[in-house]
Amino acid sequence: MQRALAVIFFLAVFFHQSLAQCNSTNCVAPNCRCMSTSIPGGLSKANAPQLVFLSFDGAVTTSNYDNYTYLLNNRMNPNGCPIGMTFFIYHEYNDYTLTHSLYHKRQEIATHSMSHRTPQELWASKTASEWVDEIGGMKDALAKFANIPSTPIRGSRAPFLQTSGDNTFSAMKTLSMFYDSSLPTTNYTDPPVWPYTLDQGFQHDCLIPPCPSGKFTGIWTVPVVTLENNGTRCNTVEACPQPKTLEETYQFLKRNFERHYNTSKAPFGVYSNNNGWFQSANFRLEGYKKFLDYLSSKDDVYIVPLGRGLDWMRDPKPLTEVGNFFSCPAMTQTSCQPVSCYYDGEASAIGPRIMKSCVPCPDVYPWTGNPLGNA
Ligand SMILES: *[C@@H]1O[C@H](CO)[C@@H](O)[C@H](O)[C@H]1NC(C)=O
Ligand SMILES: *[C@@H]1O[C@H](CO)[C@@H](O)[C@H](O)[C@H]1NC(C)=O
Ligand SMILES: *[C@@H]1O[C@H](CO)[C@@H](O)[C@H](O)[C@H]1NC(C)=O
Ligand SMILES: *[C@@H]1O[C@H](CO)[C@@H](O)[C@H](O)[C@H]1NC(C)=O
Ligand SMILES: *[C@@H]1O[C@H](CO)[C@@H](O)[C@H](O)[C@H]1NC(C)=O
Repeated sequence: MQRALAVIFFLAVFFHQSLAQCNSTNCVAPNCRCMSTSIPGGLSKANAPQLVFLSFDGAVTTSNYDNYTYLLNNRMNPNGCPIGMTFFIYHEYNDYTLTHSLYHKRQEIATHSMSHRTPQELWASKTASEWVDEIGGMKDALAKFANIPSTPIRGSRAPFLQTSGDNTFSAMKTLSMFYDSSLPTTNYTDPPVWPYTLDQGFQHDCLIPPCPSGKFTGIWTVPVVTLENNGTRCNTVEACPQPKTLEETYQFLKRNFERHYNTSKAPFGVYSNNNGWFQSANFRLEGYKKFLDYLSSKDDVYIVPLGRGLDWMRDPKPLTEVGNFFSCPAMTQTSCQPVSCYYDGEASAIGPRIMKSCVPCPDVYPWTGNPLGNA
């Protein structure tokens, strides 16, 4: 009890200090932003787009790829360009050929660690160099085996949203990553806060300690603004009380969206683990789709990957110019010659594995510390 109080006291003091530390003198746009509910560029609500961030965590597999493309299916933003989602991908069972396809459908590919090992607590004490192996290794594996450029891989999410605080963010600096989206908030959900940079430190409530206490210039945090259903708050759609019908699914997403749309217009995030939410109930896939149809009826709503949303925050164009800003992204055309790679015995440190790759099979199963699977 005393310890809990001490922690609360520490957090309160720390939070107070870090907020006081970030202001318009020491944090200047576009490279820096303090935590805030105000719209970038001083735009009015009427002149600002409502950004929507749809993300899925985990391996891309034949059992979830169809659900993703079903939701994407030729859906356009108001400017006639395809909507964009973000896929935070880990290595185990990931199909790099399908990852390649998602990239070519103009989706954002981001990292969710190489190993994604359990239990969650393991991640709370990882060193900076271990994080470099996990985040940087996954980035290398994605670029190599999905045969896509590595520059657009600039976002990261920790397994189970469990960072080890400063070590995670030091690793992100080492790797020149652009943003993290691992740190949830319940305190700043109504009105919801916008993403901000860690130049002047972490500024919201720490739900999954440890949270960073240092300053990390130029690293953006996209807070996981928790969703609410029947009075319960959750980080991902699976963690809330489960909607039981298509209509409940739709209303759940719409109601949470309106909390953003009606107030600060901070990006609305729907964060999901894989397609687990859909796999157990097809009506939720249909309810999700109905929600996207509803969004498509609004001419100020843009469904964009997290990275592009942050690009806009750094260069906040008013609604009249947003269509140009979110023009259909240029695409580096790359090839994929699908191969299935089989590993057992000494060729895999973690037991027999199959891996689907766009380039010839590596000698051994890629793993943390040897992400390219060199002999
Ligand atoms: C901004 O914060 C710094 C402390 O980090 C303080 O010295 C300065 O006076 C503040 N500026 C304003 C305008 O509040
Ligand atoms: C969604 O995924 C599930 C599980 O793989 C599959 O049974 C279902 O047919 C998929 N639905 C669509 C529309 O892709
Ligand atoms: C979050 O809200 C709780 C309850 O109101 C409060 O005790 C705590 O200080 C807040 N934390 C931050 C970082 O705002
Ligand atoms: C929320 O509560 C209402 C009334 O108790 C219930 O009918 C509904 O099914 C619940 N919704 C979810 C998603 O749990
Ligand atoms: C948002 O505003 C609309 C239109 O004014 C209203 O119908 C809706 O109930 C509001 N939603 C929330 C969650 O406040």
